[in-house]
Amino acid sequence: MLGEEKKDYKWVSTLPENESLVTGLPDRVIVITGANTGIGAAVAKGALEAGAKAVYNIDLRAPLEDNEFAALQKAYPGKAHYLNGDVTKLDTIVAAFDKVIEAEGTLDGVVANAGITIRKGSLEYTPEEWDLIINVNLKGVVNTANVAIKNFLKLGKKGSIVVTASLVAHGTNKAAPSLPYQATKSAILGVVRGLGCEFACQGIRVNCVSPGYIRTALTTYPDTDPLWSTKLDIWGGMHRLAEPRELAGTYVYLLSDASSYTTGVDVRVQGAIDAW
Ligand SMILES: NC(=O)c1ccc[n+]([C@@H]2O[C@H](COP(=O)([O-])OP(=O)(O)OC[C@H]3O[C@@H](n4cnc5c(N)ncnc54)[C@H](O)[C@@H]3O)[C@@H](O)[C@H]2O)c1
Repeated sequence: MLGEEKKDYKWVSTLPENESLVTGLPDRVIVITGANTGIGAAVAKGALEAGAKAVYNIDLRAPLEDNEFAALQKAYPGKAHYLNGDVTKLDTIVAAFDKVIEAEGTLDGVVANAGITIRKGSLEYTPEEWDLIINVNLKGVVNTANVAIKNFLKLGKKGSIVVTASLVAHGTNKAAPSLPYQATKSAILGVVRGLGCEFACQGIRVNCVSPGYIRTALTTYPDTDPLWSTKLDIWGGMHRLAEPRELAGTYVYLLSDASSYTTGVDVRVQGAIDAW
């Protein structure tokens, strides 16, 4: 019978405990994949500014001394932690979450953010390149979300998962087309809708954010490149790349009780580039 397999799960409400409309992430424990730099690091900073007790960054490599996450570790001593993990390897993600639960005894929010791209013509990708992008951007998100959900269920408490999708989940990237990247980001919308519906009654919300063009290592052309200026002229919108910090508030909102009745949706933060 439909839902029979979930009969043992506890029903958990997402309704906030207090009636305040002003809400941040007080004392919350947040895990973010791929937070060494770029969007993930900005979300980590936003979470700490919003009152999080601890932020855990699961990334492939330890933060370099001069990168954004290392700066956060200095600014918030004892609150910004790095854990080694590869989202394509489920056992490393399970082990990283186990360490978080062991250290904090709890978990409140998870951001499945790690992602990669390779840019070239659609017919030029090797099967290995397709596998790599699918493994990081799609299976990596599913691995992270599944481990997060299992932990929330085990703890018997509500939780919020936010996935980083992309403008290309809705349309083709005019600046730097990448078919496997576009395919995985579109697929993520389905994952978010599916998980959001399936675990709504367990108090586990699953949403995504679709950033537009953000100034990070992933955007190959700096906006000082005259090409950016011409392209943004044609596409309309705000005529600039976004800074990663301009996304943090959206993630904090989706992680927080302010979005207690929001699940299974995508929030597009794209400076109107796609709105014409
Ligand atoms: N920059 C943009 O314009 C833009 C636009 C839309 C969506 N995005 C998405 O935002 C997310 C973050 O990208 P960014 O722009 O901040 O780039 P970034 O390169 O600065 O950050 C990506 C992070 O993911 C980590 N990572 C890569 N593979 C991993 C793996 N297998 N396991 C664990 N960590 C891994 C990297 O080490 C890095 O720290 C990605 O999912 C990307 O697709 C970026």
